[in-house]
Amino acid sequence: MESLLSALQEKAQADLAAICSRPELEAAKARLVGPNGELTALMKQMGSVPKEQRPALGKRINEAKGHVQALLDAALQRVVAAEIAAQVGPAIDVSLPSPDVGPGTFHPLTQVREEMCRILRKVGFTVADGPEVETEYHCFDALNTPADHPARDAQDTFYLPRDAAFGNVSKHHPDERYLLRTHTSSVQIRTLLKGPPPIRIVSPGRVYRRDTTDATHSANFHQLECLYVDRNVTVRDLKALLDYIFTSLLGKDTKTRFRPHYFGYTEPSFEVDLSARHLPKVNKEWIEIGGCGMVDPIVLDGVGHDSRVWSGYAFGMGLERLAMLLYGIDDIRYFYQNDLRFLRQFA
Ligand code: DAH
Repeated sequence: MESLLSALQEKAQADLAAICSRPELEAAKARLVGPNGELTALMKQMGSVPKEQRPALGKRINEAKGHVQALLDAALQRVVAAEIAAQVGPAIDVSLPSPDVGPGTFHPLTQVREEMCRILRKVGFTVADGPEVETEYHCFDALNTPADHPARDAQDTFYLPRDAAFGNVSKHHPDERYLLRTHTSSVQIRTLLKGPPPIRIVSPGRVYRRDTTDATHSANFHQLECLYVDRNVTVRDLKALLDYIFTSLLGKDTKTRFRPHYFGYTEPSFEVDLSARHLPKVNKEWIEIGGCGMVDPIVLDGVGHDSRVWSGYAFGMGLERLAMLLYGIDDIRYFYQNDLRFLRQFA
């Protein structure tokens, strides 16, 4: 009996040392201490042993059982450690240099946005922000764009469902809906509502329109808005600002030109064209870049600033357009595809 037990212990030790997976461990466990296991079989032989030898043998068997159990526990620990290691993957030496190609760079749109903000900060503008989910009031009504204006049509504007979980949009206009802002001009209203002039803000941001994507359209693009309200602001100030911005950004040979236009929130209103023929990639004489005008007195009075005291100008333009012009990019979709071959050119 003693030799059988010793042999079993030795064999268990050798078997369990080689185990490295859970099924193998379970099989070994059953083979040794299961109901039909080898150790169990030896224990069953106790009955046939002479009475006087039983206490000593019982002690010996318990010893062997303890030994086998310790071997099983150790094997289980090894299996668990192996499982965790497999999940975690190979060891990483965090002190090794990165296999990456180098530091990241700013997206071309970010670069143009930051450069424009830098240029405008120099002449006293502060950066203002506004939400992309807007109310009809901030995006249209307060900007003197009436309910039947085509821009408000569901074909052009993304409206949120009326029962969107935002609660009532407005106490005064229970019918008002939430929408994705179609232009950054909504930030004009948010800023004007914050306090009295003088106001001088620039607000870059994302805007949304129901456009089908092609080389020059995207349902989601970026604009940059400027608003200046003070005493005795004139069209001359507006023209001077635009000349300053675009010569700063594109070089002193750049020219700007106004074409009469209509916007509900400015009077008079203009479209702004740029001439940047000196840029190698531009072969048109004039390129439309944005809209502008003198803030309509209706807008000022509407937000509680007396239009007999205050006057101002506003200007809005597309950032993609400007970046395309600046870098000679001929398809707006490049901006959104995150293709490294494109992005690396703006390092
Ligand atoms: N919001 C206009 C657009 O999205 C651009 C614009 C026109 C902005 C005239 C202005 C403005 O601030 O005065 O097309």
